[in-house]
Amino acid sequence: MPKLKNSKKVSKKIKKAPVKLKKKQCVVKNNKIYPVKILKKRNNIPKRIKITIPKKKIEPVDIVRTGYNPKLLRGMKDILPEDQIMRDYLMKRLIKLSKAYGFKEIILPILEERTLFEKSTGMATDVVEKQMYQFTDRGGKKIVLRPEFTPSVVRAYIEHGMFNLTQPVKLFYHGPVFRYERPQAGRYRQFYQFGLEVLGSESALIDAEIILFSQTLFQDLGLQVSIQINSLGCISCRTIYREELTKYLRFQSKSLCADCQKRLSKNPLRVLDCKVSQCREITRQAPQLINFLCSDCKKHFTRVLECLDEANVVYSLNPYLVRGLDYYTRTVFELWPIASEEKENSSRGQTALGGGGRYDTLVESLSGRETPATGLSYGIDRIINEIKIQKVRIPRGQTPQVFFAQVGESAARQALRIFNDLQSQGIKVAENLAKTSLKSQMKIADEMGVKLTLILGQQETKDKTIIIRDMKTGNQEKVDIGKLVKELKKRLK
Ligand code: HAM
Repeated sequence: MPKLKNSKKVSKKIKKAPVKLKKKQCVVKNNKIYPVKILKKRNNIPKRIKITIPKKKIEPVDIVRTGYNPKLLRGMKDILPEDQIMRDYLMKRLIKLSKAYGFKEIILPILEERTLFEKSTGMATDVVEKQMYQFTDRGGKKIVLRPEFTPSVVRAYIEHGMFNLTQPVKLFYHGPVFRYERPQAGRYRQFYQFGLEVLGSESALIDAEIILFSQTLFQDLGLQVSIQINSLGCISCRTIYREELTKYLRFQSKSLCADCQKRLSKNPLRVLDCKVSQCREITRQAPQLINFLCSDCKKHFTRVLECLDEANVVYSLNPYLVRGLDYYTRTVFELWPIASEEKENSSRGQTALGGGGRYDTLVESLSGRETPATGLSYGIDRIINEIKIQKVRIPRGQTPQVFFAQVGESAARQALRIFNDLQSQGIKVAENLAKTSLKSQMKIADEMGVKLTLILGQQETKDKTIIIRDMKTGNQEKVDIGKLVKELKKRLK
């Protein structure tokens, strides 16, 4: 523990005496009075004096303890550099594929009005009822951290008059999303979504297109997923089904879990999605929505399936898939990791890597024009977890082929300039400028598996040369520093 400096110690300053200073007087400095000692006099008038100023007390900042241990909030996650390699790879693939499918990026704010989600995601959904991070801002407005993107995309579509553009408008987005859920494996309170929305088309082909996008993506990543698909019909066919389902469930209501008993009056379709085993037993015998579709919805769904068959998309029809958000109409789908399909339903929906569907009435319900739309979102964190679970090998990206080592004062001085010159010439070069010994730098170069190591020592800085070491053969050659880039390009070919 460092010691406190003795506050009684003094610093002494020798100064010219002020003309008026008399023997045994004091001087006033910064509103403080200090004693002075007269050192030199001429004609009895003090000429030089010594002022004694007490030294300032120095606080030992390194031992001030606040008693506070910072901790990550529950449900939050730090994304460390080693995970970043995978995320980077995944995001690049997603963006590339989205652009190839004709999607354009939209960047949306994290904060939105609470009402936006109440009117779209739905008041009776878990997301709006229980999971939103909300607060009142300084202007008294009720604000939330977005719990999903789709309502924000629709808001932006209406606000920016995107209905005047050539339809459909195809947008992709990505960013953090917040839901105050009970954290567990693959379920966070802040997570990252990537999504696609197509606004302004009713075509079944578009539903099939975004499902095909998902198959292509996961095949590309080497991940085995199962595409679960269902149709929720339109408002009129769903109303009839809802009545039938409620009638059936009421008979069994005592055997339903407490949550489902509440759902029965508010949102009976969500009972179909319940993971509790006794509820699942009951819903297995329940009437199925597919049998209640009106002729238009049936035609639409049949067309989606035909398009998928035509494109060789492999899917499973799942009559229990209802999704947890209120705005869906007709096609809905989820992407499950194969393992969770096998366990079926122990984790039904819980570990979905993505999901989406059609929302033909949402734009209108937010005061826009009649605009049929469809879309999907992937959970990036869950896809990363799945990549790890399925032990998929991800290319490590371009690793540096050259390591730059420097030894001695003058080499250290030139190091940044040379390093920067090489980078700007497009040579991927690594360094560890904090290390000073050649041995430790060579060890790092070896661990990195670079092809060449550059060594700049005292002698080389004088000669304006640099050593190129071939890490495989151990051969070393001195080259003129002016010819370094050309030499490296030749050897890295
Ligand atoms: P969602 O099913 O609520 O749909 O979320 C999409 C994906 O986000 C899920 O499949 C899952 O991978 C991921 N996800 C959801 N909650 C969590 C969580 N707590 N922790 C980690 N990942 C999570 C939507 O959000 C809709 N907006 C999708 C959509 C777009 N529908 C039409 N267009």
